[in-house]
Amino acid sequence: MSTRTGEGSRLAQARASHSGTDNKALYKEWAASYNADLPANVYIAPTLTAQAALSFASSATGSILDAGCGTGLVAEVLARGGASSIDGLDLSPAMLAEAGKTGVYQKLFVGDLTRPVDIADERYDIVTCAGTFTHGHVGPSPALREFVRIVKTDGVVVATIIDAIWESGGFKREIEALEAESLVRVVSADIIDYVQARGDHAVLIVLEKLSQAGQKGSGHKMQSSPAVLPAGQPLLRVRA
Ligand SMILES: C[S@@+](CC[C@H](N)C(=O)[O-])C[C@H]1O[C@@H](n2cnc3c(N)ncnc32)[C@H](O)[C@@H]1O
Repeated sequence: MSTRTGEGSRLAQARASHSGTDNKALYKEWAASYNADLPANVYIAPTLTAQAALSFASSATGSILDAGCGTGLVAEVLARGGASSIDGLDLSPAMLAEAGKTGVYQKLFVGDLTRPVDIADERYDIVTCAGTFTHGHVGPSPALREFVRIVKTDGVVVATIIDAIWESGGFKREIEALEAESLVRVVSADIIDYVQARGDHAVLIVLEKLSQAGQKGSGHKMQSSPAVLPAGQPLLRVRA
C-alpha cells in the first residue's frame, strides 16, 4: 500500500527531474500507484482545474484536450461534470495506460509539450493542463503558445503553474507577451492550494483566446465567471 512517505519521495523525485528521459522513467514507475499516492483531498489541482473548465458552457458540448493528462484525474472530474469529448496527451505511455482505464477519454496519445505538437490549429474548445508546468517538466515555451494555437477563438486554456516557477520559469512573462500580442485575455490568475498539507501552491490561469483582430468574439461562452482582473492590475491575484 502507498504511504505518505512514498508520495513525498515521488514528489521529490518529480521535482528533481531534469529531462523527458527522467520524467518517462519516473512516471513509468509511479503510474500504478500515482492515484493512491495523490488522492483528491491531498492533490487538489486536478479538481480545481476541471472545475474552472466546467464553468464554461463549451465544456459540455465542445472538445477538450487534457494536456499532460497523467492518469486522468482532471478528465474524471470533467466527465462527472458533463464533459463528453475529452482527448488526453502525455509524454508517458505508462500514465496514458492508466488514463485509459478511466474510460472517459475519446482518444489518448503520446506527445511532448516541450516541442510543437502535431495538432491542427483551432482543434479544441478547451485545453486543460494540471500539474505539468512544474519543476523539470514543461516550460512556458512553446507549450502556452501551442495551447493558444490549438484552441478555438473564444475557447479557453486552463492550467496550473507551480508558484515557485511562475516568475522565475518565465510563465508570467510569456502570458504577458500573449496578452500584449492580443492573442489572449487573462480571465483570471489565482493562487490555489496545490498539494494540500504540504503547503504547496500554484497559479491557476484561465486564458481566453481572442479573435485574430484582437477583439473579443461574439460567442463568449463563460457561464459563471472566475473573477476578472481589472485592467492595469498585476497578473497575479490572491483568491479571497
Ligand atoms: C504531476 S503529473 C500530472 C498529471 C495529471 N494532469 C494530474 O494532474 O494528475 C505530470 C504529468 O506530466 C507529464 N509530462 C512530463 N513531461 C512532459 C512533456 N514533456 N510532455 C507531455 N507530458 C509531460 C508526465 O508524464 C505526467 O503524467
